[in-house]
Amino acid sequence: MKPILVSGMQPTGRLHIGNYLGALKNFAELQNSGKYQCYFFLADLHALTEGPSPKMLGGNILDLAADYLAAGLDPKKSVIYQQSQIPAHAALAWILNTITPMGELERMTQYKDKAARQVTNVNAGLFDYPVLMAADILVYNAQFIPVGDDQLQHLELTRTLARRFNSRFGATFAEPKGLLTQTPRVMSLKDPHKKMSKSDPEGCLFIDDSPEDIKRKLARAVTDSDGEILYDPERKPGLSNLLDIYSAFVGKDPHGVAIDFEGKQYSDLKAELAELIAGHFAKFRAKKAALVAKPASIKKILVAGSKKAGAVADKKMAEVKKKVGY
Ligand code: AMP
Ligand code: TRP
Repeated sequence: MKPILVSGMQPTGRLHIGNYLGALKNFAELQNSGKYQCYFFLADLHALTEGPSPKMLGGNILDLAADYLAAGLDPKKSVIYQQSQIPAHAALAWILNTITPMGELERMTQYKDKAARQVTNVNAGLFDYPVLMAADILVYNAQFIPVGDDQLQHLELTRTLARRFNSRFGATFAEPKGLLTQTPRVMSLKDPHKKMSKSDPEGCLFIDDSPEDIKRKLARAVTDSDGEILYDPERKPGLSNLLDIYSAFVGKDPHGVAIDFEGKQYSDLKAELAELIAGHFAKFRAKKAALVAKPASIKKILVAGSKKAGAVADKKMAEVKKKVGY
């Protein structure tokens, strides 16, 4: 049996190149390596914590599914499904809640960030978000979790909960490990000390941005004023972020990319990077447009995937219920 790999993203809007280079590109590569049994889902229960309208949520679900498929996730190779269609996720989250001290959730950086950002909607779901994430993982007995760097704290909690459950109720769950890419934390184009985030669209390059938008946003990306192209994340965070992004797209080390650009201007690097990214996503954009035009076929894939994943999750859930005494 191949080891099980699980990951998901929230359907909360357009994906940026941080999501792509930190997670989605890796999902496709890991799937195609043939080394894992892959489960990729839409975290549409997590998305509710941001309070979307029903219409927006529905649209975002189809859009993210199209992103997955256009990026190369293949229902013949991976199980692709919707979290909300599988009751075992929320059912396991409830049981895990009862072995999770409040203090461990109060420490979560993402919770603190989001609570500060959505002050009028600090709901209990936002607080409990990491426990549902732990359930998403443990209910498949997953061993490998490809995510960006910002999710590692949640993964650590998942490992703690697995260990705690196992020691109280007997060996039940595997302790999952994170899989990071070479760019686990892509920084904002506007402020290289902050991570690229959907909450600040001008600092993002979205993967379905037009070539003109990519060019415009990169031209305005914050760098520094000394003009020397050198990879030095401490002293030159903005420029080094651009070099990191460039190197991730060409599969080269960022120092090597800096050497290739020696003697050139920042504007040369920005222009070449814009072309590189626009070119990289040209096929993606066409594929996504074709998929979005056929929502019924996307829905069919999700229904079939959710059925498959549900059967696996139900089995684990039956074991958990027995272990706790039901
Ligand atoms: P989210 O949009 O929060 O559901 O994130 C989806 C995935 O993208 C997660 O694995 C995140 O860790 C990853 N991710 C989000 N922002 C970044 C970033 N700026 N750099 C690298 N990975 C990221
Ligand atoms: N919390 C993740 C994010 O914001 C999404 C997610 C939910 C997830 N459940 C998961 C990722 C399980 C990996 C495994 O990106």
